[in-house]
Amino acid sequence: MLPAYLPNPFAAVFGGGKTIDGGRVLSDGRRILGDGKTWKGLFAGIFFGLLAGCIQIWLSGRGFEVLGLEMPGFGPDFGSAFKVVFALSSGALFGDMFMSFFKRRLGLKRGSPLPLVDQLDFVLGAWVFTYLAAPAWFTDNFTFGIMATVVVVTPLLHVITNVIGYFIGVKKEPW
Ligand code: CTP
Ligand code: MG
Repeated sequence: MLPAYLPNPFAAVFGGGKTIDGGRVLSDGRRILGDGKTWKGLFAGIFFGLLAGCIQIWLSGRGFEVLGLEMPGFGPDFGSAFKVVFALSSGALFGDMFMSFFKRRLGLKRGSPLPLVDQLDFVLGAWVFTYLAAPAWFTDNFTFGIMATVVVVTPLLHVITNVIGYFIGVKKEPW
């Protein structure tokens, strides 16, 4: 999940500037996505997710282990592994963007909390993209136990990283 976990924090650190929706509003009078979704955040986030994934692929190829656990290879060859890593990192930010779209339609202002959706939108996006990109790899690796663990552990990790982000000043709200 690392290539899916890193894009959001890196988007928060490097985001800013031109917004993806260009300031446009829909007929409901509300922004399409809002000021919290920027091109710089999107590209920086995907870049760092890809970087982490490529380092994992490389370490996996060298048989590297952490506490006896092998690094995931993400696929039999670099091409297919890269596809998975790209799906995980871009899917994370697209999931986040998709939910911002819905938050705006619900009339929620940028940065307003939507519990569980804020913590799991990027997981869902990453999984949908990865399933579409590499269905066999997805079902082999994201077993029920692993998915259940991710769904339980991710909101906790998300809350912890966002509180840190808030105190170091890259997040406007601690969620
Ligand atoms: N960010 C960005 N571009 C993205 C995603 C995130 O620039 N594609 C940056 C923004 O600075 C944003 C911060 O990361 O404020 C935190 O992201 P998030 O919590 O997803 O955005 P919110 O500001 O809470 O907006 P929303 O209500 O739409 O979730
Ligand atoms: Mg938010």
